[in-house]
Amino acid sequence: MLDRSIKIAPSILSADFANFGREIEAVEAQGADWIHVDVMDGHFVPNLTFGPAMCKAIRPHIKTVMDVHLMIAPVDPYIDAFAEAGADIITAHVEAGPHIHRTLQAIRGAGAKAGLALNPGTPAESAEYLLDMVDLICVMTVNPGFGGQKFIHSQIDKVNKLRAMIGDRPIHIEIDGGVDPATAPLVAGAGADVLVAGSAVFRGGSVADPAPYGANIRAIRAAAEEARKAA
Ligand code: DX5
Ligand code: ZN
Repeated sequence: MLDRSIKIAPSILSADFANFGREIEAVEAQGADWIHVDVMDGHFVPNLTFGPAMCKAIRPHIKTVMDVHLMIAPVDPYIDAFAEAGADIITAHVEAGPHIHRTLQAIRGAGAKAGLALNPGTPAESAEYLLDMVDLICVMTVNPGFGGQKFIHSQIDKVNKLRAMIGDRPIHIEIDGGVDPATAPLVAGAGADVLVAGSAVFRGGSVADPAPYGANIRAIRAAAEEARKAA
């Protein structure tokens, strides 16, 4: 049975870029369930972050799950490199190219779990013929590219639709963008189980003072679990 309990996945996009190893260790010690790694290419999205070499360098610091979100196009030439870097989950965007079916096959073929991300303008139905090929569907609740953006409420309906489409299949629903204690309940109540949060986890804390990370994670989790009980 798939673990559908609420999982908090801090995005290191909001961490100190000069200190990823320690930041990851701090946030895991403070209760993070997964570590979300945002890879951007300055082409698919208007921002640049890092590539497989950085993923490989941070891998030994991750004890939980390395959740790699590729905001790049093309995807296929880089899949093996991210798998070899130790990604547990590799998520590609349906909008990143004409052959997402092939891309998802290649991700599983490389030994990683396959994630499918949908931009805010992309309908839930775009996942319909891919459900037997994915381990995770990532609903973008901001336009990808930057942390700290405002949650797009229209995406809650998409989460409801995907939850119904997925049924008993072992597929996580991940939410990415603008997740905080106010928005987490909206998507948790609709059926999401993995909540990515960058700014709402890292705000107020640091490697030297990591307690706020823990308080932030607990606040998001508590709000999401409350909505789950009510749903
Ligand atoms: C956006 C990234 C997100 C981002 C979330 O393109 O995919 O993972 O870091 O940041 P917050 O939680 O600050 O919206
Ligand atoms: Zn992301």
